[in-house]
Amino acid sequence: MTGSRATAEPASSGQLVDVETLKKSIESENDSAYNWTYENGRRYASTELGHYYMPNDEPEIQRLNEQHWILTQVKGGALHFAPLSNKPGLKILDIGCGSGIWCLQMAEDYPSAFIIGMDVSPIQPKNKPANVEWITQDMESEWPYPEDYFDFVHLSLVHGCVADWNKMMAKIVKYLTPGGWVEHQEFSLCRQYLVDEHDKPLPMTENIDELQPVFKWNRLLDQAATKRGRAIQLGPHLKRFQKDAGLAQVTERVFAHKYGTWPPDPRERSLGARTMLSAISGMEGFTTILFTKVLGWNLEDTQTFIQEVKRDMRDDSLRKVMDLHVAYGQKPDHRAGRSRGAPRPAAKISEPESRYLELGIGVMVGAMSASLATAWFMRRR
Ligand SMILES: C[S@@+](CC[C@H](N)C(=O)[O-])C[C@H]1O[C@@H](n2cnc3c(N)ncnc32)[C@H](O)[C@@H]1O
Repeated sequence: MTGSRATAEPASSGQLVDVETLKKSIESENDSAYNWTYENGRRYASTELGHYYMPNDEPEIQRLNEQHWILTQVKGGALHFAPLSNKPGLKILDIGCGSGIWCLQMAEDYPSAFIIGMDVSPIQPKNKPANVEWITQDMESEWPYPEDYFDFVHLSLVHGCVADWNKMMAKIVKYLTPGGWVEHQEFSLCRQYLVDEHDKPLPMTENIDELQPVFKWNRLLDQAATKRGRAIQLGPHLKRFQKDAGLAQVTERVFAHKYGTWPPDPRERSLGARTMLSAISGMEGFTTILFTKVLGWNLEDTQTFIQEVKRDMRDDSLRKVMDLHVAYGQKPDHRAGRSRGAPRPAAKISEPESRYLELGIGVMVGAMSASLATAWFMRRR
């Protein structure tokens, strides 16, 4: 560590500890423990682990927590839909766990379960319940677990992280116990669309040059991700991934998430506003590396384009919708006569199969829980 005072150094007699200096010092100690990469003022995971294109710094961690809260509300408050068994000692794996917030919340709901959060970035809180573990691991390399080990494998928003989904799903199935479940959620990120005042999707040109900047951005992200060999457009493919991997009882739910402040329904408007803010704050992170390093744009053009996209995001005359796909399926259990325990109801609130969003809980309650969740999460960090 250079420049700042060592964290353990006591204040000299009569002096008070300078709290701000101490905080900066601890942050820089944490930073120097890892081989981070810095680009355009943002921090990225070590280049030796995986090939991720998004930052992993404090603003990104906050964005992930906010996004997790929004998505949970979009799904009516459910952390999962797969019907988990009620046997004690369930082994749960969250692949690409990000800030770790899903694992921490699952640990509260399933106190007897053992939950592992796997991520290429060691950014999860050190303060955690005893039944949660973090592993810094590239999900595409071999995992240090026995076969048939996990009862539940969860993936959320790992768009742009995986080169070969057939291989990844085969690996998940290998580590799932017979009768265990996998659940995966992703947006249809590169095929966002507009609806009319009756929520009917409007036709959209396939000519990228005729599209509004926000939709052009979707398509360019898709092109960049494809060129890079790690698809971002995953939502509509999840069901197929699971069926092709031989999973049984594959079920898909699609939630049409309206974003912006245009929805007339106050609950949808509140969630839509938060997604708009989250998307705006993540724009540089989503875009800069892919556009400059993969599509070959210069930084200035990329930044100008980002401003145009942000403008569209704020434009409520554009009634924008992004579908969230959730798919879950079960590894067949060919061992005859084996009891798996009674399934535990998954969703806390029943959720309609409607294409259009119906929220199960009020946004006031939701906003309060979000603040509590954030405070709770920050306490653990
Ligand atoms: C968009 S974030 C989603 C985080 C979390 N699942 C959520 O829904 O909030 C994607 C996460 O995948 C992680 N990731 C990317 N490539 C990875 C890899 N090869 N192995 C493990 N984790 C990876 C990133 O570090 C990041 O935390």
